[in-house]
Amino acid sequence: MVAASAPGKLILYGEHAVVFGEPALSVAISRRTRVEARPGRRTEVNGHPLEEGRYPYVAETLRTTNHNEPLTLTTQSDIPMASGMGSSAAVTVGLLACLQGAPGPLQKEEIARTGFEVEHAVQGRASPIDTTTATHGGGILLLKEREENFLWSIEKGETRWNLHGSPLPEMKFVVGSTGIEASTGPLVAQVRRRVEAQAVARKAVERIGEIALEGVEALRRGDLERGGDLMLENHRLLNTLGVGHVALDKLVAASMPFSFGAKLTGAGGGGSMIALTNDPVGVTQALRSAGGSAFAVSTVPTGVQLEREP
Ligand code: MEV
Repeated sequence: MVAASAPGKLILYGEHAVVFGEPALSVAISRRTRVEARPGRRTEVNGHPLEEGRYPYVAETLRTTNHNEPLTLTTQSDIPMASGMGSSAAVTVGLLACLQGAPGPLQKEEIARTGFEVEHAVQGRASPIDTTTATHGGGILLLKEREENFLWSIEKGETRWNLHGSPLPEMKFVVGSTGIEASTGPLVAQVRRRVEAQAVARKAVERIGEIALEGVEALRRGDLERGGDLMLENHRLLNTLGVGHVALDKLVAASMPFSFGAKLTGAGGGGSMIALTNDPVGVTQALRSAGGSAFAVSTVPTGVQLEREP
């Protein structure tokens, strides 16, 4: 038996624009998915036969790695599904770690590369932000150029992402969940159509890239006011790209009296928002009163890791 776990993530700035190669910043969080793999008589996940529609990321991971031997897979997760918090990347990366298995340290770059290919195949289009964050942990900054703290670069077609570790001061975030599940693939496709058709959407993508760069600078120097203002601007631009939702706007507005700034996180269309705050209790109560579910998260340095048998 082999088991591995990988963290969920929050994108602080840059989702969607990052698919077009713009800069983006994400952090790994203290919620994880654990995957356990043992040889079996037929491949099944959590007691169900492996079906493409039900477990697309698992099916694609086994296909991409040419893994043909039957496996009994069990997953356990405290990352809500289809909520913008990287649950698909965590299960993909966790399974890839199981397939790589012992002995020796995990080949993380290899896991991140294959994880990206899996997400790209399932979603039709993707950036490596989710899978690299689930693999490496900590803060992850995607840049057009290669700079300090470089980890690896990944390319697809004409787009190249240079992935970097991004040391950040400790910050407090509250996640507010709309409870509306939204799949990433159709939202990414919708943004592409808008960007192809509308100059205002192309401008929004470019400005989101600038916001990510300004945001990481602000957070590094501890300027949470500026970091929060940039989150709000990023949120409005995501609405321009068509991936917002009234339920997200409501939660963002409810969090503002208690936070520096807030925005949707991940693919949008429902899912979750995040608020940067020094008052997690105040934000949590405000989000619950506005009809969302809410919980505080901490950021974690630990990416994917093999686990001992429980
Ligand atoms: C989803 O968590 C982030 C998106 O930018 C898609 C991607 O980068 O693959 C919406």
